[in-house]
Amino acid sequence: MAFIRRNIEELQINPVTMIGKEWFLLTSGTPEDFNTMTCSWGGIGVLWNAPVLTAYVRTTRHTFGYLEKNDRFTVSVFPEEYRKALAFCGGHSGRDCDKVKETGLTPAVLDGVPAFAEAKRVFVCEKVYAQMLSKEDFIRKELVNDFYAKDAMHKMYLGKITAVYEKQA
Ligand SMILES: Cc1cc2nc3c(=O)[nH]c(=O)nc-3n(C[C@H](O)[C@H](O)[C@H](O)COP(=O)(O)O)c2cc1C
Repeated sequence: MAFIRRNIEELQINPVTMIGKEWFLLTSGTPEDFNTMTCSWGGIGVLWNAPVLTAYVRTTRHTFGYLEKNDRFTVSVFPEEYRKALAFCGGHSGRDCDKVKETGLTPAVLDGVPAFAEAKRVFVCEKVYAQMLSKEDFIRKELVNDFYAKDAMHKMYLGKITAVYEKQA
Protein backbone atom coordinates (compact mmCIF):
# COMPACT_ATOMS: atom_id res chain seq x y z
CA MET A 1 0.00 0.00 0.00
CA ALA A 2 1.41 3.37 -0.99
CA PHE A 3 2.03 6.33 1.31
CA ILE A 4 0.13 9.53 0.57
CA ARG A 5 1.46 12.91 1.61
CA ARG A 6 -0.88 14.60 4.07
CA ASN A 7 -1.41 18.15 5.27
CA ILE A 8 -0.35 18.06 8.93
CA GLU A 9 -3.16 20.46 9.88
CA GLU A 10 -5.70 17.90 8.73
CA LEU A 11 -4.34 14.92 10.67
CA GLN A 12 -6.80 13.26 13.03
CA ILE A 13 -4.40 12.30 15.80
CA ASN A 14 -4.05 12.65 19.53
CA PRO A 15 -0.30 13.19 20.03
CA VAL A 16 -0.42 12.06 23.67
CA THR A 17 -1.87 8.64 22.90
CA MET A 18 -0.03 8.31 19.59
CA ILE A 19 3.34 8.79 21.27
CA GLY A 20 2.71 7.43 24.75
CA LYS A 21 0.48 4.47 23.97
CA GLU A 22 1.12 3.51 20.35
CA TRP A 23 4.87 4.30 20.50
CA PHE A 24 6.96 4.99 17.39
CA LEU A 25 10.17 3.97 15.69
CA LEU A 26 12.72 6.75 15.53
CA THR A 27 14.98 6.12 12.56
CA SER A 28 18.10 7.99 11.61
CA GLY A 29 20.81 7.48 9.03
CA THR A 30 21.04 6.97 5.32
CA PRO A 31 19.23 4.31 3.27
CA GLU A 32 22.50 2.34 3.30
CA ASP A 33 23.34 2.76 6.98
CA PHE A 34 20.65 3.54 9.55
CA ASN A 35 19.41 2.52 12.97
CA THR A 36 16.01 2.52 14.57
CA MET A 37 14.72 2.47 18.15
CA THR A 38 11.37 2.50 19.89
CA CYS A 39 10.28 5.69 21.64
CA SER A 40 7.29 6.50 23.81
CA TRP A 41 8.37 9.93 24.96
CA GLY A 42 8.24 13.03 22.82
CA GLY A 43 5.98 15.76 21.61
CA ILE A 44 4.35 17.39 18.63
CA GLY A 45 3.67 21.10 18.54
CA VAL A 46 4.61 24.41 17.02
CA LEU A 47 7.84 26.35 17.43
CA TRP A 48 9.47 29.10 15.43
CA ASN A 49 6.32 29.19 13.27
CA ALA A 50 6.75 25.58 12.17
CA PRO A 51 5.25 22.23 13.13
CA VAL A 52 7.84 20.36 15.18
CA LEU A 53 8.36 16.93 16.68
CA THR A 54 10.54 16.44 19.73
CA ALA A 55 12.24 13.18 20.67
CA TYR A 56 14.31 12.40 23.77
CA VAL A 57 17.18 9.96 23.31
CA ARG A 58 19.58 8.70 25.95
CA THR A 59 23.18 9.13 24.91
CA THR A 60 23.82 5.40 25.37
CA ARG A 61 21.50 4.43 22.49
CA HIS A 62 23.11 3.26 19.27
CA THR A 63 20.60 5.50 17.49
CA PHE A 64 22.10 8.49 19.32
CA GLY A 65 25.25 8.35 17.16
CA TYR A 66 23.14 8.32 14.01
CA LEU A 67 21.09 11.30 15.19
CA GLU A 68 24.27 13.23 15.90
CA LYS A 69 25.66 12.56 12.43
CA ASN A 70 22.54 13.01 10.28
CA ASP A 71 20.42 16.09 9.64
CA ARG A 72 17.10 14.31 9.28
CA PHE A 73 15.16 11.53 10.96
CA THR A 74 11.79 9.82 10.64
CA VAL A 75 9.13 8.85 13.13
CA SER A 76 7.13 5.79 12.05
CA VAL A 77 3.82 4.94 13.74
CA PHE A 78 2.49 1.41 13.30
CA PRO A 79 -0.77 -0.50 13.42
CA GLU A 80 -1.24 -2.49 16.65
CA GLU A 81 -0.24 -5.77 14.97
CA TYR A 82 3.39 -4.58 14.94
CA ARG A 83 3.58 -4.15 18.73
CA LYS A 84 5.95 -7.12 19.02
CA ALA A 85 8.31 -5.63 16.45
CA LEU A 86 8.33 -2.32 18.33
CA ALA A 87 8.94 -4.09 21.64
CA PHE A 88 11.90 -5.84 20.01
CA CYS A 89 13.37 -2.57 18.71
CA GLY A 90 12.98 -1.12 22.20
CA GLY A 91 14.58 -4.07 23.94
CA HIS A 92 17.58 -4.72 21.73
CA SER A 93 20.37 -2.54 20.45
CA GLY A 94 21.37 -2.22 16.82
CA ARG A 95 24.91 -2.68 18.12
CA ASP A 96 24.14 -6.33 18.83
CA CYS A 97 21.60 -7.36 16.21
CA ASP A 98 20.03 -6.56 12.87
CA LYS A 99 16.61 -5.18 13.83
CA VAL A 100 15.30 -5.33 10.26
CA LYS A 101 16.18 -9.01 10.01
CA GLU A 102 14.88 -9.88 13.46
CA THR A 103 11.52 -8.07 13.12
CA GLY A 104 10.87 -8.65 9.42
CA LEU A 105 10.08 -4.95 8.99
CA THR A 106 10.70 -3.56 5.51
CA PRO A 107 12.84 -0.43 5.18
CA ALA A 108 11.28 2.28 3.02
CA VAL A 109 12.78 5.59 2.00
CA LEU A 110 10.64 8.74 2.21
CA ASP A 111 12.12 12.02 0.98
CA GLY A 112 15.53 10.35 1.11
CA VAL A 113 15.24 9.32 4.78
CA PRO A 114 14.83 5.73 6.00
CA ALA A 115 11.48 4.70 7.52
CA PHE A 116 9.35 1.54 7.36
CA ALA A 117 6.88 0.28 4.77
CA GLU A 118 4.57 -1.27 7.41
CA ALA A 119 4.02 2.08 9.17
CA LYS A 120 0.57 3.64 9.01
CA ARG A 121 2.03 7.13 9.38
CA VAL A 122 5.51 8.59 8.93
CA PHE A 123 6.75 12.01 9.97
CA VAL A 124 9.85 13.20 8.13
CA CYS A 125 11.80 15.63 10.30
CA GLU A 126 14.76 17.93 9.90
CA LYS A 127 16.79 18.62 13.04
CA VAL A 128 16.61 22.30 13.97
CA TYR A 129 17.67 22.24 17.61
CA ALA A 130 19.27 19.72 19.94
CA GLN A 131 20.20 20.05 23.56
CA MET A 132 21.28 17.79 26.41
CA LEU A 133 18.95 17.80 29.37
CA SER A 134 20.87 18.84 32.44
CA LYS A 135 20.31 17.68 36.01
CA GLU A 136 20.83 21.24 37.28
CA ASP A 137 17.88 22.52 35.29
CA PHE A 138 15.28 20.20 36.80
CA ILE A 139 12.79 22.03 38.95
CA ARG A 140 11.33 18.78 40.29
CA LYS A 141 14.63 17.28 41.47
CA GLU A 142 13.04 13.91 42.32
CA LEU A 143 12.78 13.27 38.57
CA VAL A 144 16.57 13.18 38.40
CA ASN A 145 16.59 10.41 40.94
CA ASP A 146 13.70 8.59 39.31
CA PHE A 147 15.02 8.67 35.77
CA TYR A 148 18.77 9.33 35.82
CA ALA A 149 20.20 7.66 38.92
CA LYS A 150 21.33 4.65 36.89
CA ASP A 151 20.75 5.67 33.28
CA ALA A 152 22.35 8.19 30.94
CA MET A 153 20.79 11.59 30.33
CA HIS A 154 18.52 12.26 27.39
CA LYS A 155 19.33 14.59 24.56
CA MET A 156 16.37 16.46 23.15
CA TYR A 157 16.09 16.56 19.37
CA LEU A 158 13.67 19.04 17.95
CA GLY A 159 12.80 18.34 14.35
CA LYS A 160 10.86 20.52 11.98
CA ILE A 161 8.21 18.28 10.42
CA THR A 162 8.90 18.60 6.70
CA ALA A 163 6.34 16.00 5.58
CA VAL A 164 3.76 13.57 6.91
CA TYR A 165 2.78 10.45 5.02
CA GLU A 166 -0.14 8.12 5.71
CA LYS A 167 -1.40 4.94 4.15
CA GLN A 168 -4.62 5.20 2.20
CA ALA A 169 -7.56 4.00 4.36
C1 LIG B 1 8.02 1.31 24.79
C2 LIG B 1 9.45 1.81 24.78
C3 LIG B 1 9.67 3.17 24.73
C4 LIG B 1 10.98 3.69 24.75
N1 LIG B 1 11.16 5.05 24.68
C5 LIG B 1 12.42 5.55 24.66
C6 LIG B 1 12.63 6.97 24.53
O1 LIG B 1 11.69 7.77 24.37
N2 LIG B 1 13.92 7.41 24.58
C7 LIG B 1 14.98 6.56 24.74
O2 LIG B 1 16.15 7.02 24.79
N3 LIG B 1 14.81 5.21 24.83
C8 LIG B 1 13.55 4.69 24.78
N4 LIG B 1 13.37 3.34 24.83
C9 LIG B 1 14.51 2.44 24.89
C10 LIG B 1 15.17 2.18 23.53
O3 LIG B 1 14.21 1.92 22.53
C11 LIG B 1 16.10 0.95 23.67
O4 LIG B 1 17.12 1.23 24.60
C12 LIG B 1 16.68 0.47 22.35
O5 LIG B 1 17.19 -0.82 22.55
C13 LIG B 1 17.77 1.38 21.81
O6 LIG B 1 18.22 0.81 20.61
P1 LIG B 1 19.61 1.24 19.93
O7 LIG B 1 20.71 0.97 20.93
O8 LIG B 1 19.70 0.33 18.73
O9 LIG B 1 19.49 2.68 19.57
C14 LIG B 1 12.08 2.81 24.82
C15 LIG B 1 11.84 1.42 24.87
C16 LIG B 1 10.54 0.92 24.85
C17 LIG B 1 10.32 -0.56 24.88
